Order: sequence, then structure tokens, then C-alpha cells
Amino acid sequence: MSPDATPAECLAEAFRLLSRGVADRRSAFHTVTLATVGPDGAPEARTLVLRGFEPATRTIRLHSDSRSAKVTALEADPRCVIHLYDAPAKIQLRLSGRAALHRSDALADAAWAASRDAARMVYAVQPAPGTAVAAPPVAPQDPVAGRAWFALLLVRVDRLEWLELAASGHRRARFAWTGDSPAEASWLVP
Ligand SMILES: Cc1cc2nc3c(=O)[nH]c(=O)nc-3n(C[C@H](O)[C@H](O)[C@H](O)COP(=O)(O)O)c2cc1C
Repeated sequence: MSPDATPAECLAEAFRLLSRGVADRRSAFHTVTLATVGPDGAPEARTLVLRGFEPATRTIRLHSDSRSAKVTALEADPRCVIHLYDAPAKIQLRLSGRAALHRSDALADAAWAASRDAARMVYAVQPAPGTAVAAPPVAPQDPVAGRAWFALLLVRVDRLEWLELAASGHRRARFAWTGDSPAEASWLVP
């Protein structure tokens, strides 16, 4: 970004990078780190594929197994943070929001229908993810059975922090939304 970029231009660039992350598997933003609050109050973090981003509603789409620790954590406390870093662009984003879980509604059905068989098979794994086993299980081959455990996670972002590293001076901006109002933006000391 140019050193003269406005906060609005930084936000537009952040949204552009998120949309590219969905579409481009080679983009640094194709995967995100999702941080949640565990049952004991401790933070937990893991990598997920960025499946969708809707700028108008600031909604991030992720897929996971409803038996997993992250889904259990989000059921108890929907607050989460999504972290991304694009090393070539030297841009870090930190998104905060709440996750809504969809398992058996039309939205989950549509996400499942749009998934490829190879992605669907993952959800047929037995026993449940995170179970201690004597040896790694064989890869499931069933593209149907996993529907029972497939979960769509929709994260509505209500805060976004932009950090861009540059020799001319690092630039950090925070954006906060309340409902559908336009973002409140402010520069922060990096
Ligand atoms: C590159 C990469 C992509 C991943 N994508 C997903 C994903 O889209 N959904 C998912 O549930 N887990 C994904 N995982 C696995 C998670 O990082 C994590 O190990 C697993 O979901 C269990 O997390 P949990 O026990 O915190 O729920 C991915 C891992 C890697 C390394």
C-alpha cells in the first residue's frame, strides 16, 4: 500500500486479500489461524482453510467436524479470533467476531453440496477427531457418511486490525463495526 493510503483503502485491501484467499489456493490467506476459548478458559488455535468471505456482511466461512474440540469450544463461547499473515505483502490481519454453527440447515446443506468428494471423506473418520488411538486410522473413503458430522462455521467479524510492515514506517489500523453501521476506523501505534 502507498504510505498515503487512507484507512478506508487499507480496509478495502484487507477485504480484497480475503476474497483472493478464498479463490486462490496459493494465496497466503488461503488458510487462517482460528483461535477459540477452550472449556478451561485457555486459548486454543489451529489452521483452517478459508472457504468463503462475504464483504457486505463481513462474514467468514469455515468448515469443520462437529465432533471436534473447536466446535465444542464455539458452542460454549462463540467468540473467536482469526489471524492471517501474508509474508510477501507483509500484511497481518486480526479479525474478531462470533461464530454461528450450522449443521443440519439449508446453509450447511448448500456448503456440503458445494464440497468435493475428497473434502467430504474427511468427515467420515472414526472415531471422533481428537480421540486417542493406538495407531493412525486409515483415510476414510466414504463421501456420504460424513454429512452427519459436517459443520459450517460462519464468523461475523466485528473488529479487524490491519498491520502492514514497511521500511517507511509500519502502519496499523483498527476497524470496529456495530451491527450494520459503517466501520469506525482509527490508526494505532504499530
Ligand atoms: C493446511 C491445513 C488446513 C486445515 N484445514 C482445516 C479445515 O478447513 N477444517 C478443519 O476442521 N481442520 C482443518 N485442519 C486441521 C486443524 O488445523 C486441526 O488440526 C483439526 O481441525 C483439529 O482441531 P481442534 O482439535 O482444535 O478442533 C487443517 C490443517 C492444516 C495444516
